[in-house]
Amino acid sequence: MKSYIVGNWKMNFTVGESSVYLHKLSARVHAYRDIEVVVAPSFISLQPLSLQLDRKKIRLAAQTANARDFGAYTGEVSMAQLRGIVDYCIIGHSERRQLFHETDKCVRSAVAAALRNQIRPILCVGETETERTFGETCDVLRDQVLGGFSEVSTEDLEKVIVAYEPVWAISTTSGAKIAGPDDVAEAVKFIRRIIAVAYGKEISEKVAVLYGGSVSPANAGAYLTVPGVNGLLVGGASLIADKFIDIIETAKRVKS
Ligand code: PGA
Repeated sequence: MKSYIVGNWKMNFTVGESSVYLHKLSARVHAYRDIEVVVAPSFISLQPLSLQLDRKKIRLAAQTANARDFGAYTGEVSMAQLRGIVDYCIIGHSERRQLFHETDKCVRSAVAAALRNQIRPILCVGETETERTFGETCDVLRDQVLGGFSEVSTEDLEKVIVAYEPVWAISTTSGAKIAGPDDVAEAVKFIRRIIAVAYGKEISEKVAVLYGGSVSPANAGAYLTVPGVNGLLVGGASLIADKFIDIIETAKRVKS
């Protein structure tokens, strides 16, 4: 299976800065057969970057989008509007769930809307620190994975990418809060088991599962060698092009 290295820029960079970054990235990455390099800029940068980039090397993702196609929803951007501009959309990121009150229902509808518009969903799942402390990780992952998949047709299941992002390990600078490869291995195995029980083993092996949460050039190799991990969702470290390129090069080394 391909590896996916996805940079989530969150609410950073102006349109001009995004373009300069992409220029630098394009000069340093090649068209890899077994690695998909994806960046997720703000909405405002997506359209200009889509004209600038070489899709053989780099693909675009949106960071969220509305599941409804068109209508009176002031300030929203829909999957239908993103069709043809992005190849991927991050859905249900913990910041969307926590800060913007996105419910499981929003997430479920957005996954279906993405697929309807030829966009591959990157479905984020992961437990909070409190949920982990109370031993609820498995229940949370089961609800989020099955919820996210619930409106997907059988033939589209393998297009969904799941990103395991333990909320307690996102954007942490202190080493104490970093998820160890063993934590990741266990969660990823559990996610595949959930999919296997619901849809069969064959599908569960075709669904790409990424890890995200304080990924850096220093730890990328350790996460990428965890059995069952098919790539990384990178936040903070993706804001520095050199670091993101380092992570892509690590993925290349791991693959070869
Ligand atoms: P981080 O963010 O790499 O800064 O922890 C990851 C994410 O939020 O997707």
